[in-house]
Amino acid sequence: MAVQPSHQFEACCGIGSSGGFHLRKVGKLPSGADSFVSSCCSEKSKSARDAERDFSKRSQIRRYYSQALKRSAASPSCCAGDTPSFVPSLGCVFSLSKKAGIKEGDVVADFGSGAGHDAFEAAGLVGDYGKVVGIDFTPEMIEAATNTARERGYGNVEFRLGDLEGVPLPDNFADVVISNCVINLTSDKKKVFSEAFRVLRPGGRIVDADEIAAKELPRSLQNDADMWCKCVGGALTERQYVKALRGAGFVDVKTTIYGSQTIQWRDREIVIKSGIIEGVKPPPEA
Ligand SMILES: C[S@@+](CC[C@H](N)C(=O)[O-])C[C@H]1O[C@@H](n2cnc3c(N)ncnc32)[C@H](O)[C@@H]1O
Repeated sequence: MAVQPSHQFEACCGIGSSGGFHLRKVGKLPSGADSFVSSCCSEKSKSARDAERDFSKRSQIRRYYSQALKRSAASPSCCAGDTPSFVPSLGCVFSLSKKAGIKEGDVVADFGSGAGHDAFEAAGLVGDYGKVVGIDFTPEMIEAATNTARERGYGNVEFRLGDLEGVPLPDNFADVVISNCVINLTSDKKKVFSEAFRVLRPGGRIVDADEIAAKELPRSLQNDADMWCKCVGGALTERQYVKALRGAGFVDVKTTIYGSQTIQWRDREIVIKSGIIEGVKPPPEA
């Protein structure tokens, strides 16, 4: 895959990895790389600056992913031979729906469904009595996934435009929430996990495949727009993900690591793992 000059390495989101390894080290990022905040804006309050930064981050992420399908069409899919090979995967972990233990009749919500790779895999597993709903905030992704569902005759999957910080699904809707390489991109992870908790029925599970920082990331990396869009800048540590899930109310929280890569950030080596963090919404008291 061609690497643009300002894109010093590709993440899962850039497509072109295999077997759960996503970050390809190709060089050192220049200092002063593109950042979410350009000036200190001394007259603005902290909350106004935070809102501005958040808006800018979302716009950049949307722009990045509105172009992602074109980039994936220009390079061979990472997932050839995997299921379903007709849709590119931009995820951190392959065959997430199978790994998530989705079964016939399940209702599944896919948070950040992209072009629908995991949603279509889930649709094959839940069958005619189950249902899959993909949520994504990039209109181009929703359009592409909806067209694929129609062209391929999937009657048990639909895609809705929406933000994970306010998911357009009712309470107690799903048996399983899956998400593949998305929650690292969000600004308010606490809110996203509490939305997952809300839409799950009691006893339901969240299975989040994500990038996981081995150590807390340097502030400069967290503030870099390009690195955030590529699923690195917003990655939490394993301990932080576990804490966030427990904080949202999940129990039986556990993690499974599938791969790890070392990247160069300025003068530091940064280890990023990919894995699954999962938890259960407590079932009703017997
Ligand atoms: C790395 S891609 C992964 C797509 C898909 N899960 C896959 O594995 O192919 C990240 C996706 O998350 C979506 N996304 C990022 N932040 C989001 C948010 N706050 N709400 C909804 N979708 C979001 C992007 O539009 C993009 O389609």
